[in-house]
Amino acid sequence: MLVVLNARLCTLWALLAALLFVGAPPVRAAAAVKRDFSEGQIDNGEALSQLSTEALQSSQQLHKRLVARGANSGCTVDKIRIRREWRTLPKSERRAFIAAVKCLQSSPSLLDPAVVPASKTLWDDFVAIHLFQTGNIHLTATFLTWHRYFTWTYEQKLRDVCGYKGTFPYWEWGLDVHNPAGSPVFDGSDTSLSGNGAYSPHEGLWITQAFSGNVLKLQPGTGSGCVTSGPFKDLKVRLGTVVMPQYGNPNWTGSANPLGEGNERCLKRDLNAWVASAFTSFRNTTELILENNNVEMFQAIMQADDRYVVGQLGVHGGGHYTIGGDPGADPFISPGDPGFYLHHAQIDRVFWIWQMLDFQHRQGVWGTSTLQNMPPSPNVTVEDTVDISPLNGPVKIKDLMNTVGGSPFCYVYFKESLDMKTSTSFALLGLIAGTAVAKTDLAGCTRTQMGNTYVYYVPDTGEICSLLDCGGGRAPPKTTVPGCAAYEGTATVTPSFLPGFGAAASTSTPSSGASTGPASTTSGVGQASTTPTATGGSSASTSSGEDKTQVTSTGISSNPPGKTVIITGTKETTAGTSGGSSGASGSKTQGSSGSSSSSTAGAAAVTAAAKGAAGLVAGAVAYLAL
Ligand SMILES: *[C@@H]1O[C@H](CO)[C@@H](O)[C@H](O)[C@H]1NC(C)=O
Ligand SMILES: *[C@@H]1O[C@H](CO)[C@@H](O)[C@H](O)[C@H]1NC(C)=O
Ligand SMILES: *[C@@H]1O[C@H](CO)[C@@H](O)[C@H](O)[C@H]1NC(C)=O
Repeated sequence: MLVVLNARLCTLWALLAALLFVGAPPVRAAAAVKRDFSEGQIDNGEALSQLSTEALQSSQQLHKRLVARGANSGCTVDKIRIRREWRTLPKSERRAFIAAVKCLQSSPSLLDPAVVPASKTLWDDFVAIHLFQTGNIHLTATFLTWHRYFTWTYEQKLRDVCGYKGTFPYWEWGLDVHNPAGSPVFDGSDTSLSGNGAYSPHEGLWITQAFSGNVLKLQPGTGSGCVTSGPFKDLKVRLGTVVMPQYGNPNWTGSANPLGEGNERCLKRDLNAWVASAFTSFRNTTELILENNNVEMFQAIMQADDRYVVGQLGVHGGGHYTIGGDPGADPFISPGDPGFYLHHAQIDRVFWIWQMLDFQHRQGVWGTSTLQNMPPSPNVTVEDTVDISPLNGPVKIKDLMNTVGGSPFCYVYFKESLDMKTSTSFALLGLIAGTAVAKTDLAGCTRTQMGNTYVYYVPDTGEICSLLDCGGGRAPPKTTVPGCAAYEGTATVTPSFLPGFGAAASTSTPSSGASTGPASTTSGVGQASTTPTATGGSSASTSSGEDKTQVTSTGISSNPPGKTVIITGTKETTAGTSGGSSGASGSKTQGSSGSSSSSTAGAAAVTAAAKGAAGLVAGAVAYLAL
C-alpha cells in the first residue's frame, strides 16, 4: 500500500517536473528582473526565495533551448528531478530517505580493505574518497563542481543501491539560524537526521587560518558529546580523525592512522546557533549571490578563503560548524555526518541559483587544483576532469556546470516553503488519486491533462496551482468545496499555489521576529490570505511584477503512515583501488585536475595529515575547507 503511495508521489513529482518544463511559456529574462530588495526582504528570506524562483525560470528556459537544439536527450522532461527542502518533504518520504541512508551504511564497501581498513561500508567509502581528495577540492577551482558531483553520486547510490524513490533534500540554513537544535533536520525526532550531541561544558572551537595565521575563536555550541537521539544515534564513525580542530586550543589533532581500524567511535555534534546566525543567515546567502559577479569571488566568499577575507567562515564553513562535532568539524571526514549531504545540497543550490542568474557567463572555473594553490599547481580548465572512483567515473568539469544538461545531471531546486500551513503533503494526493479533481477550471488556472490526471497551472507564468480536494476515489465527492464539480454553493474559488510556485508565494518568516523593520511589505503570517490583485507592481517585492493570491491549502494534509520497503539492488563489483600505502591510494583515487602534479599533491596532503605532520595546508583546511 505504502509502496504504491510512494510510487504515486514519485509519479506526481515527475508530472510536475514535466509540466514545469513543458507547459511553461517563456518568461522574461532573469537579467531584467529588479533586484532592489528591502533590508527586511533580505533578512527574512523573501529575497532569496525570489532569486530561487528566477533561477527556476531560467533553468526552464535553458532546458527548452537545449531541447530545441536536440542537445538534451539525457535530460528529457520526464527525467527532471526536483530537489526540495527537508521540512517540505512528507514525513513518510523523510523516513524513506533515512532508511535509504541506513541502507548505504550497511552496504558493502567498494574499496580495497588492505588500503582502507577503516572503510567497512559504502557509506564509509564516501568519507574515504573525500578524505583522499581534500587538498584538491577545497579552495581550488574544483570545489563547486566536485561537490556537486559527489553529492549527486550519493543521491544515485541511495537510489540505485538502496531503492530510494523520493526527493533529494537540501537544508535551507536560513530557516534555522536561531535554533539549529530545533530544526526538523536536527531535532532528534525519527524524521530528523538525529539530534544534538550530549551537552558537556566546553570552550568554543579555535580554528587557525593558514594563509593569514588568524585564529578564529568560535562561541561554544550546545552539545559536543555523542548524539543521543534520532535515527543515527548508533552510527559508527570509522575514518579519521585527520585534522580535527579543538575546543579552546589552536592546534588540531588527528589519529595516528586515520585509515586504519580501531578508530571506531560515536557520532558527535555541537549544534551552534552563534555560528549559524553569523555565517548562514538569509542575508549571508543572499549577499553572497548578489555581490559576487565572477566565480573567483563567489567561491572565495562562499568558503571564506583567507587570501580574500580574514576571520570569516562563509556559508560553507558556517553550515559545517553549525553542525560541528566529530566527524562534522574535521574537513577531511565531514561526510561521515549524515547532515553533510543536505548541507552540500544547499551549497549546490546556492551555486545553482548564482549560475542561473547569468548562466551564459557562469560556467567557468578559476584557480588551480591545490588548496589555496599550496603547493603551486597549474590552472584548472573546464576540460579537466574530476574523478571520484570507485564511487563514480571521471567526468569533465564542463559537464558538471549545467544541472539540466543531462550529462550527467537532470535536476532543479524548489525554493523552500516558509509557510508550513500550505503543506506540500498534499492537496496533490487528491490529484494522484486522480478521479474527481474539479472539472471546472480554477480562476486563473488552466487545466492540462497529463496521463490520466489533470494539472492546473497559470498560463502566463507557469506557476502550478494547488489542487482542490474534491473527494473522489474512495471518498464521496465533496459538495462543499468551491470549484469542485459537485459544489452546491455559490462562492467562487480563489486559486492558491503549490509552495514554491506562486509569484508571491509564502515568504513570511515563521516565529523568528525578523520580519519587522523597514519591510512594510512583510505582513507576517497574514500574507497567507492576502487579496488577489490581477496586475501589480505595487511593491518591489515580487519578481514577476504581479501579485498572486496565496491561500491556505484546502487539500489533504495527512501524511501516509507506516514504513517503506527498501529494495536492495544488485551489488557493485567494482574493484577498489589498489596500492601499497595510504599515500599511494590517495594518489590513485583522486585526480581532480587530471594532471599528475595535482595527484601527487593530493597524496602528499593526505600522507602529511595521516602522519600528523603540521603544515600550512592542513591548518588551512582545518579552518576553511570542509
Ligand atoms: C600548540 O602547539 C604548539 C606547537 O607544538 C605548542 O607550542 C603549544 O603549546 C600548543 N598549544 C596548546 C594550547 O596546546
Ligand atoms: C551574516 O548575516 C548577519 C545577519 O543576518 C550579519 O550580522 C553578519 O554580519 C553577516 N555575516 C557576514 C560575513 O556578512
Ligand atoms: C592562471 O590563471 C590566472 C588567473 O586567471 C592568470 O592570471 C594566470 O596567467 C594563469 N596562468 C597560466 C599559466 O595560464
